[in-house]
Amino acid sequence: MTDASANLDRFNAMAAEWDDSPLRAGIARAVAGAIADTLPLHGGMRALEYGCGTGLVSVLLADRLGHIVAADVAPAMLDVLDAKCRRAGLSNIEPRRLDLTVDPPPAERFDLVFSSMTLHHIEDVPALLGTLTQMLAAGGWLALADLDREDGGFHGGPMPGVFHLGFERAWLMDRLRDLGLDDVTARTAHVARKPGPDGMPRDYPIFLATARRV
Ligand SMILES: C[S@@+](CC[C@H](N)C(=O)[O-])C[C@H]1O[C@@H](n2cnc3c(N)ncnc32)[C@H](O)[C@@H]1O
Repeated sequence: MTDASANLDRFNAMAAEWDDSPLRAGIARAVAGAIADTLPLHGGMRALEYGCGTGLVSVLLADRLGHIVAADVAPAMLDVLDAKCRRAGLSNIEPRRLDLTVDPPPAERFDLVFSSMTLHHIEDVPALLGTLTQMLAAGGWLALADLDREDGGFHGGPMPGVFHLGFERAWLMDRLRDLGLDDVTARTAHVARKPGPDGMPRDYPIFLATARRV
């Protein structure tokens, strides 16, 4: 099994219980709040969430944006999102299966591309950042949330499909500048607390990096 198919199997298997986790709900609330506090969101914006899972972040931002394409590689995650949108009458979220590490990017352009806790599951992050940047409309915003560099404790040890143990903010910001993006910033969006491998509570800071295609 490759790391990529391990990811797909794991997330499909976790989909039905994904929203039961207070840790994940807390991260999603904080990331959605940080995006809304940092960027000038408005109802005319067309957005893409990449690696949306069950859409925890997209659902929270739905009333601040015009339309959200919520994309993920795992069909079971998208099925959960689809059912939630139907139940809540959320008609501006469009679940879509998409893996930009193998699929061609859609021709659409977006005013906002956001992603939460997905980058560490992507092997070639600079390549993905290039693709996400190409998908931005002129003036469009990129907003990326993920773990700061950590020691592997967040996932409880080595795990197939976890390619990065968080990121150095400065490294990520440099990659965004390399792509010609402007207004590059990073801030702490949240500090997730969960037991480390020794069972003791540990803090895992999560950043939100933002940048703009001028
Ligand atoms: C840790 S989960 C985060 C989900 C969601 N953003 C949240 O905050 O609840 C990572 C998500 O990335 C998705 N993913 C992993 N690799 C992917 C890829 N190559 N393309 C698209 N989605 C991917 C997984 O299926 C999973 O839903």
